[in-house]
Amino acid sequence: MPQLLLINGPNLNLLGNREPGVYGSRTLDDIVDEVQRHAASLGLDLVHFQSNHEGELVTRVQQASREGVSYIVINPAAYTHTSIALRDALLASDIPFIEVHLSNIHARESFRRHSYLSDIASGVIVGFGPSGYRLAIDAAASALGMPRST
Ligand code: DQA
Repeated sequence: MPQLLLINGPNLNLLGNREPGVYGSRTLDDIVDEVQRHAASLGLDLVHFQSNHEGELVTRVQQASREGVSYIVINPAAYTHTSIALRDALLASDIPFIEVHLSNIHARESFRRHSYLSDIASGVIVGFGPSGYRLAIDAAASALGMPRST
């Protein structure tokens, strides 16, 4: 089974309580559970990793290369707008990735409009809430040539 790695960055462990008007009321566990089941229905094994620490996110991407991960779906959260280290790790890994944001970062503060990752991503999904992860899994499954589920 091809392996997908879902990465969530800082403060996304607080989903459900964190600014529900912006990020919704579902918890990260709830979202990951649903996305994992969706991936399985498409014949993909999805592993999840969340961290509030930039270095841990970099190390996890490096590990993904050694594990033969086929695709990464990542919501880098605030590190989107600051992290050259995460960009370099993703470039070094050579693993295709999709950037996801729950909120529409283009309709918020101007500092959220710049991403250090978007120009090297296969694609970017913003503003669809938790459905964005599901859309990203669908896109990854299609890129990997997985047959569509019924
Ligand atoms: C976010 C958007 C970021 O700007 C913010 O720092 C986050 C969450 C989103 O999913 O909308 O933590 O990545």
